[in-house]
Amino acid sequence: MAGSLIQEEICNVAICDLEKGEQLYILLEQHSMLNTEFKPQTTGTELAIALTPSQRTTEHHIKQLLAPVPFEVRFERRFMQRTPASVDPHRRLTKAIQAWLVDTKIEPSISEICREHRPKKWEKYDDLIILPETAFANESWAGVLRNVSLEDKTLLWKDVAESLYGTRLARQHPIANTVQRDSQTELLHGKDGWVEFTDHGVQFGLDVTRVMFSSGNVTERRRIGSISMEGETVVDAYAGVGYYTLHMAMRSGAKHVHACEINPHSITGLEWAIRENQLEHCITVHPGDNQLTLPTLYGKADRCHLGLLPSSKTVWEHAIRCLKPEGGWLHVHMNVAEQAIDEWVEQTRSTLEEMAQRNARQWNIEVEHVEKVKWYSPHVRHVVVDVLCSKSSIIDENRVK
Ligand SMILES: C[S@@+](CC[C@H](N)C(=O)[O-])C[C@H]1O[C@@H](n2cnc3c(N)ncnc32)[C@H](O)[C@@H]1O
Repeated sequence: MAGSLIQEEICNVAICDLEKGEQLYILLEQHSMLNTEFKPQTTGTELAIALTPSQRTTEHHIKQLLAPVPFEVRFERRFMQRTPASVDPHRRLTKAIQAWLVDTKIEPSISEICREHRPKKWEKYDDLIILPETAFANESWAGVLRNVSLEDKTLLWKDVAESLYGTRLARQHPIANTVQRDSQTELLHGKDGWVEFTDHGVQFGLDVTRVMFSSGNVTERRRIGSISMEGETVVDAYAGVGYYTLHMAMRSGAKHVHACEINPHSITGLEWAIRENQLEHCITVHPGDNQLTLPTLYGKADRCHLGLLPSSKTVWEHAIRCLKPEGGWLHVHMNVAEQAIDEWVEQTRSTLEEMAQRNARQWNIEVEHVEKVKWYSPHVRHVVVDVLCSKSSIIDENRVK
């Protein structure tokens, strides 16, 4: 039967344990190394994922990028099945754009450039597709879009959304450099930017035109959610729409989470999710600037989560004072140059120690874990340190000196 012939081709693949497959898939996608033309393939307990054939995708390069991955990844060449053209979103998008360029009678030489500059990645929340800020923004696309009718433009956005299995379309713009980190996502097609989705079994809701969602922090949300916080009181100083707050309340088993947040649009999402996940009994929202809300929580917490980039340093001292007199955990996020990570870790530890001493907390302060979450820019990483502050009668003499 000719119709059922399976198309297989030899590919470079990355292989890992089946249960780590989703994590590897996301990482390869983030680094533009995922080849969606081929279906991921399971063999027993392993998953093989095809890699893009680009020059940059050498085994050495991939190993470097995946160095912080806490599980084993193997590289091989093997036959993989092609994703049928009709379901591969990249090919559907190319076709939709090509058809629109022809229907709109765009000159072939410009069409060629526009096709080349089609979006290569996007994110999908609910039925809303979010394109990167570079999408349809190069000179040729800008010229074409300036000169077509509103009706044609609407058709393009609708076709693009539908080719990517969505019904609404938006384009990212840089996060505003404001305290509230306002989203500047522009809605291209659809009536509003409210999205609802599930992340590791937790329901989230937010308006993407007003609030940012850091999809790149997926591994960190998973990690924080899998730390046991049974019976603990937790303070989340930068709660947003609940990226970590909800995971700590639902998956880590925290007894109570105090969620501090300044942006009213984020609070709308957070309160929606608290109701939706039925967490009213174990989350309290503290609206406003955490410089004012954290002092109301002094002495109450077993753990403080400080998830602001590039740095949360302005609340470190408050966080120390929020911990109970016997101490607890701090999760400190920061953007740090790759080469300076070790130095930063020690500086952070000693700064926290000085702050603790200034506040009459006689604690041993140790960095128990350093998590490299993702690359923020070519040489800068988003890093999280888990810091344990424990009351001890025996203070390390070297540190007291
Ligand atoms: C980076 S977002 C949170 C993101 C989330 N933790 C993550 O990593 O995906 C930072 C949040 O902190 C809030 N924020 C910033 N400064 C604040 C302040 N001084 N007081 C309370 N919330 C603040 C912002 O409104 C924003 O929702």
